[in-house]
Amino acid sequence: MSIIGKKDVQLVLAIETSCDETSVAIIKDGNQVLVNLISSQISTHQQFGGVVPEVASRKHIESISLLVEEALKEAGIQPEELSAVAVTNGPGLVGALLVGVSFAKAYAFALGKPLLGVNHILGHIYANFLEHPNIELPVVCLVVSGGHTHLLYIKEHGEYQVIGRTRDDAAGEAFDKIARAMGLGYPGGPMIDKISKAGDIKAFDFPRAWLEPSSLDFSFSGVKSAVLNLLNSASMKGQTLKEEDIAASFQEAIIDVLVTKAFAAVDETGVKSLLLAGGVAANSRLRQQLGSIGEQRGIKVYYPAPVLCTDNAAMIGAAAYYQLIKGAQSGLDLNAVPNLKLE
Ligand code: KG4
Ligand code: ZN
Repeated sequence: MSIIGKKDVQLVLAIETSCDETSVAIIKDGNQVLVNLISSQISTHQQFGGVVPEVASRKHIESISLLVEEALKEAGIQPEELSAVAVTNGPGLVGALLVGVSFAKAYAFALGKPLLGVNHILGHIYANFLEHPNIELPVVCLVVSGGHTHLLYIKEHGEYQVIGRTRDDAAGEAFDKIARAMGLGYPGGPMIDKISKAGDIKAFDFPRAWLEPSSLDFSFSGVKSAVLNLLNSASMKGQTLKEEDIAASFQEAIIDVLVTKAFAAVDETGVKSLLLAGGVAANSRLRQQLGSIGEQRGIKVYYPAPVLCTDNAAMIGAAAYYQLIKGAQSGLDLNAVPNLKLE
């Protein structure tokens, strides 16, 4: 095994297979993306209206070796030059995770390089450091994806605290379920974002779950049920509702709570910067609202480029870099952990 010194050039090969994207990236020194290949399975799963785990695993197996070969070729790097092999080992679909984890273990072992297991949620957060490596800590991070909704206080690299989380659905999950009920297809977030632009955010007054006054937790099952009830009763009465208005009012109900609680977390912790991460971070209204309120309040708001918000291996490589320079390393007994926690 090579010894990692802080001054060496670090080339991390990163692998992400936790859900429906097979992705391989090579990251230099934590923030230079030499290559970030993403093979999306969305068109395969669209016909089923959501991700079919068994199909996802098979698709990852078909793509993974080819993508690694292609990534090395595109970056012009020989496998021996790599400093480490990083892989998402949770949370996610167990069969899908196992494809990446098994490949990464074999590859790291064959090369005699360090192996690093990375938490997928941390990966989403570190997508911010790819474009903004000089973000000053401490920060608050709002992580909003298909499976997760968390508020984190990040004191320094590797030292964080979950200060809020969803008690039921994740924000992206709510977007996907409502889009499905409206017949907008999978994944629903981008479609709701798009059609909301032509809708009225005040057309329907959907509920916001603020929970206890001091709570930084979230709950999206109430707003989801309210929209589903509206859709069902309209269809029973033969009414046609303007779908742009439903989408815009629903999106606003979710974003209102996300933005309010994110800034409440900023106030509570006294940080000067707020990071946004996860697939829902690609939402244009959420970015705009956080950005403009941040500007009014003198809080710096960072969010990754849209392609780095949804699942990709570059973010895994960025998170791995900060683990690597602290001397962390996983054993070859690294396993896929479908419900891997942040703490
Ligand atoms: O982070 P991600 O790729 O996968 C998970 O780790 O879960 O997030 C996918 C989620 C899906 O729920 C998708 O609908 C949502 O992110 N999403 C969006 C947008 N783009 C993706 N939600 C709202 N607006 C968007 N523009
Ligand atoms: Zn994700």
